[in-house]
Amino acid sequence: MVVITTAIMLINSCGGTGKNNAANEADTLKGLKDFYKDYFPIGVAVAPNSLEGAQAELIKEHFNSLTPENTMKPGPIHPEENRYFWDDADKIVDFAQANGMKVRGHTLCWHSQTGAWMFKDSQGNQVTKEIALARLKEHITQVVTRYKGKVYAWDVLNEAIVDDEDTAKIYRETPWYKICGEEYIADIYQWAHEADPNAVLFYNDYNTEDPVKRDKIYYMLKKLLDAGVPVNAVGLQGHWNITNPTEQNLRDAIDKFSSLGLKVQITELDVSIYTSRSDTVNMGFTPEREKKQIDLYKMAFKMFREKKDVITGVTFWNVYDGRSWLNRGNRKAYPLLFDENLKPKKAYWEVVKF
Ligand code: XIL
Repeated sequence: MVVITTAIMLINSCGGTGKNNAANEADTLKGLKDFYKDYFPIGVAVAPNSLEGAQAELIKEHFNSLTPENTMKPGPIHPEENRYFWDDADKIVDFAQANGMKVRGHTLCWHSQTGAWMFKDSQGNQVTKEIALARLKEHITQVVTRYKGKVYAWDVLNEAIVDDEDTAKIYRETPWYKICGEEYIADIYQWAHEADPNAVLFYNDYNTEDPVKRDKIYYMLKKLLDAGVPVNAVGLQGHWNITNPTEQNLRDAIDKFSSLGLKVQITELDVSIYTSRSDTVNMGFTPEREKKQIDLYKMAFKMFREKKDVITGVTFWNVYDGRSWLNRGNRKAYPLLFDENLKPKKAYWEVVKF
């Protein structure tokens, strides 16, 4: 169904002259993942209800890797101390297995979407470092063990570096950091590695192209590697917008992280038309914004292809513009390659043209 619509769109976009139609119609039998088969897997973040109807068809056509958007986060998957909730995460893993797709696990340790119980005792007081670490170990061991052999990569630690121009401040003041100090970081990689020695272990963050934040992340990773900690790769979330990042900053970030011998993935890609997170007015997908978005997507994918030796995956954060985490009320961010009707946008055709 989606294939047919895509073909019609493409024929229309060729002006109906018949010229180039043969080659382009063959292209419409391919999805993103097929264009990129000699480069890296193309993933998408999903909820269990993305795996039904037209969205499921689109996902099967274009993607060969899934990331659970929320269902493997500590809060949803481990809502109470002695209770795990596996059903939603299992649905995504089962769908991936049934369709020959990879799964990236997201995320084992984060300050957000984590049950408050993890940091509190029965009186509501903050737990000791020993208890916090024991809970974290139990959580990581259970989750990684359950999906061993099914989840090939884990975002072990998410967003632990602070956004601050002050280069002396490295770590974000999360509950984990406040209770445990920085040593929990080495521990969590070790525990994840013990639970599944074959899993590729990531550090994942946003604004990784900002030189100040990039260098803080580099500092942390180098320290971990020097200490023999099993961290293998860096996730650049890729929550970008039509003016950011610059080509230079993106290139420098990929080069800097990979100079440590780490692989790099783009783990949560979207290119918003909003340059500020707090904007709530509906700005509209004007031709100017569309053009800037196309240019940014073209620039980025050209670089990913160029750096395919270190880039081991690119994952979009949501399937189509109609359902993006960046949409809020009147605000519509138009950040993806498929429009509100699940049709490929112009940016799509530029990303697959090479
Ligand atoms: C977002 C989800 O997309 C939303 O549905 C949820 O309400 C909040 O989290 N960085 C991350 C992701 O690592 O887990 C976040 O996902 C987006 C920012």
